[in-house]
Amino acid sequence: MSNNVRPESMARIATPELANAFIDEQLDALRQQIGNKKALLALSGGVDSSVVAALLIRAIGKQLTCVHVNHGLLRKGEPEQVVEVFQNQMNANLVYVDAVERFLQKLENVSDPEQKRKVIGAEFIRVFEEEARKLDDVQFLAQGTIYPDILESGPVKAHHNVGGLPEDLNFELVEPLKFLFKDEVRVVGTALGLPDSMVYRQPFPGPGLGVRCLGAITRARLEALRESDAILREEFAANGLEGKVWQYFTVIPDFKSTGVRDGKRSYDWPVIIRAVNTKDAMTATVEDVPFALLQKITARITTEVPGVNRVLYDLTPKPTGTIEWE
Ligand code: XMP
Repeated sequence: MSNNVRPESMARIATPELANAFIDEQLDALRQQIGNKKALLALSGGVDSSVVAALLIRAIGKQLTCVHVNHGLLRKGEPEQVVEVFQNQMNANLVYVDAVERFLQKLENVSDPEQKRKVIGAEFIRVFEEEARKLDDVQFLAQGTIYPDILESGPVKAHHNVGGLPEDLNFELVEPLKFLFKDEVRVVGTALGLPDSMVYRQPFPGPGLGVRCLGAITRARLEALRESDAILREEFAANGLEGKVWQYFTVIPDFKSTGVRDGKRSYDWPVIIRAVNTKDAMTATVEDVPFALLQKITARITTEVPGVNRVLYDLTPKPTGTIEWE
């Protein structure tokens, strides 16, 4: 474990100059470790895996294969952004796996929150393993492990879901960010040329929208959730709340209520808005969103998102609520 302790001499990476020095050092170390061999990375599009990808693309180019698994539970525009940034702009070797149908089928009628997490995690490993087996002589597995992951959960990044690959896929781990804190990862990501929308994005659970589409996931409710979340994010950005509020999202319950639309009775879903601030996610307070903005978001969601007739604002701090609903 001694090589899992951050060296005391390591300066906090807080400036572009320090980030560039870190990048140069890592490029040398990565080229030395990997040589002319091949590496594989599960690229979710989250901050950590994106920064590892950008670093490795610079170090070893096409010797890296990035696998992006679209499990259908990502936010609107996220899979497209991964393809745009890594394939089109950085010219990476990217395998894009459209696994949407597989995941939704596995999740059909699964309503228990922990069971949903297990199904998503297990299916992720299965899809990633299938892709890994299609590639020849890959010796290295890159991971976006960061220092808090080591401090909290030992050497394997549990929520990256790649800790459970079979023994015969005997990879050597490559973890260039393992001594960095989140703020340092962001500074390095910016120095590597990643867009702010990727580097400064808010936390997003590994199981994604799966834990915000309450109960058993259905395609129609999942789409309503994704669209309402996109509207919320758009309005928060347009009104100066992006970057100010720590985490904000919508949730869709699995019950309906009555309403009226165009003079006719409707029977549709509600959408719940959650917007919270926290330092460490252990406790959280609710953002005091201007009422007029909440009304505007309500009007947009109820007119633009099919199947939704009400919008609610969650006023519950943590405790007693958790940040997520499942
Ligand atoms: P809770 O809901 O426990 O969430 O107050 C605290 C923080 O953790 C995130 N979260 C998750 N992250 N996998 C993750 O990687 C998960 O299953 C998961 N559940 C919650 C949540 O979004 C919040 O930032």
